[in-house]
Amino acid sequence: MSVLYRSLKLQCLNRIVGTKTFHANFRRLSEKSCFKMSTKDSLFHNIGERCDTSINKVTVVGSGDVGMACVFSVLAQGISNEVALVDVNENKLKGELYDLQHGCLFLNARIKASSDYAVTANSQVCVITAGVRQKEGESRLDLVQRNTDVLKSIVPNLIKHSPDTVLIVVSNPCDILTWVTWKLSGLPKSKVMGSGTTLDSSRFRFFIGEKLGVSPDSVHAWIIGEHGDSSVAVWSSVNVAGTRLKDINPKVGTETDPENWRAIHKQVIQSAYEVIKLKGFTNWGIGLSPQ
Ligand SMILES: NC(=O)c1ccc[n+]([C@@H]2O[C@H](COP(=O)([O-])OP(=O)(O)OC[C@H]3O[C@@H](n4cnc5c(N)ncnc54)[C@H](O)[C@@H]3O)[C@@H](O)[C@H]2O)c1
Repeated sequence: MSVLYRSLKLQCLNRIVGTKTFHANFRRLSEKSCFKMSTKDSLFHNIGERCDTSINKVTVVGSGDVGMACVFSVLAQGISNEVALVDVNENKLKGELYDLQHGCLFLNARIKASSDYAVTANSQVCVITAGVRQKEGESRLDLVQRNTDVLKSIVPNLIKHSPDTVLIVVSNPCDILTWVTWKLSGLPKSKVMGSGTTLDSSRFRFFIGEKLGVSPDSVHAWIIGEHGDSSVAVWSSVNVAGTRLKDINPKVGTETDPENWRAIHKQVIQSAYEVIKLKGFTNWGIGLSPQ
């Protein structure tokens, strides 16, 4: 920021009046009405134009469970210290804003929220989490038309205020919606991405780690293809601390594997449905994935 506020005024006043404390001086001067400045003006000396643009601003569209998990993750991981939040539900938006702002002391961050997209201006990254989510028994693909309609009201507004931004689509079905977003945005394809199978790979690594009794970050494994039901587990490259499982168990991940490692991929697919059945939605896993 080019507005540098300094407490020079305090020192100056102490020097000018030569008494013990600034506060006493200030009060005496105020009482005599010879000092008309506000407390703020008295405390700070403006030495330049205020500049509100930060170099790492992140916008999150959607203040639902996924959106707030993303915001929290971005702030707690120090990815950005300026976050803008947009939603159509103004009360939810305000509630989340105030609640987060009350914790700003611990985050060293500036948070803004509005249903007006002007608040998103000059974002480096915009994360789209708005739209409907799966209810129990619904697949991700069931959401496609409803969330495509939602994107039509979001993407042009984001581009209007941040024409050079990178867009990340989280709303489901995220791979299809990433393509829709790219088309709506007019951005080069390198600037539009989806969360894709990030969460699936994270679940995969967690479940393999559980089976072996090691931390997921010692497990290197990928789920590729479309996020969710039709995803593909790349068993040939799964390795733990550099040792390929396939070199130890050539049948790993196949139907004839006596150890049935393949079940882990089914567990990855089913886990979203299980969490939705238990708590109504999933959010922490996807929220934690930006790093
Ligand atoms: N990609 C992944 O891995 C992954 C994981 C979990 C959830 N999701 C998806 O994320 C999306 C959000 O899930 P959630 O649990 O946060 O849902 P939610 O219902 O809690 O929140 C959705 C929010 O979007 C807002 N919204 C709706 N239309 C809007 C619009 N036109 N403009 C701005 N805001 C709008 C709603 O007001 C609501 O606050 C769903 O589509 C869900 O399936 C994706």
